[in-house]
Amino acid sequence: MATLIKDISLQEAIPTRIIFEKHIEFIKEYGQKDNSYEYGMTDYLRVSGMYWGLTALELVNSLPPQFEFVEYIKKCQDPSSGGISACLKHDPHILHTLSAVQILCIYNYLDAIDVDGVVRYIKSLQQQDGSFMGDKWGEIDTRFSFCAVATLSLLNRMDAIDVNKAVDFVASCKNFDGGFGSRPLSESHAGLIYCCVGFLSITNRLDIVDRDTLAWWLCERQLPSGGLNGRPEKLPDVCYSWWVLSTLTILGRLHWIDQDSLKNFILACQDTETGGFADRPGDIADPFHTLFGLAAMSLLGHESIQKVNPTFCMPQHVIDRLQLKPQIFI
Ligand code: FPP
Ligand code: ZN
Repeated sequence: MATLIKDISLQEAIPTRIIFEKHIEFIKEYGQKDNSYEYGMTDYLRVSGMYWGLTALELVNSLPPQFEFVEYIKKCQDPSSGGISACLKHDPHILHTLSAVQILCIYNYLDAIDVDGVVRYIKSLQQQDGSFMGDKWGEIDTRFSFCAVATLSLLNRMDAIDVNKAVDFVASCKNFDGGFGSRPLSESHAGLIYCCVGFLSITNRLDIVDRDTLAWWLCERQLPSGGLNGRPEKLPDVCYSWWVLSTLTILGRLHWIDQDSLKNFILACQDTETGGFADRPGDIADPFHTLFGLAAMSLLGHESIQKVNPTFCMPQHVIDRLQLKPQIFI
């Protein structure tokens, strides 16, 4: 059966290099605009947003001093559940708990929070079938399975949950095309494939993956523009350069895609005026797509960007310092 291909045409003048100085300025300024409309509208993303910006800055050797970030995270930890929220006065959530732990690992400052509280929180979200809720309100998704094991692995506390049951749940989300979805019988989606393969890399269970079937599905995400989409019939988006490439790296199949045309697409997503990367050329840049544009370029071997770990989306030197060795096919 033929599938419709939706794509974009790249502009004539594509930047020939990564404009690092502009991206650094863009991210640093983004965090300071606490009076702006965008800042006010994105409070529900705050701690994860800090992780995107700070990780991007560290990858280009421009990490700012820790003080204000660590202080903010401390205030976002809920003393009773132990979980960490997106911003002050919000409910804790497993995604922001992971982002906070990632930031503290980058700064080597885990002592700033109640680590036992975080472990207690993650454990409290595991269900009978091994799945994880995102927070006390009950949404179940394989993203949260990834957040749970990534957080516990960074804290060296995987013993706190039932790992075998967690693996069974993720395995039950595998589809006939080799991909994974958010829950059993949900369609394959490259973002959730990253979560599930990352989960299996952390739990050392990549044996569950249909390696070549999945790698082929991921390669089919590349469009004539060079960019990658997240599912058939969707437009390319620079963040999928991360979700797809990191998974292909874990599968040892990065060489299956056309790397030169992907690099060209990523370069085209830079905003040469404001700095930052947008999802597609000409759209508005943001820190999320800036991190994933830079991190994808790191996986593609850019010599001026630090090596990124494909499982954790963190600088490799941090993963080495923590002596973590997530599984990867070579
Ligand atoms: C696309 O979402 C992306 C995903 C579903 C993956 C999200 C991954 C996490 C939350 C885990 C933590 C991530 C890292 C890097 C440590 P979307 O809603 O934008 O999908 P759409 O493109 O289909 O709209
Ligand atoms: Zn995107």
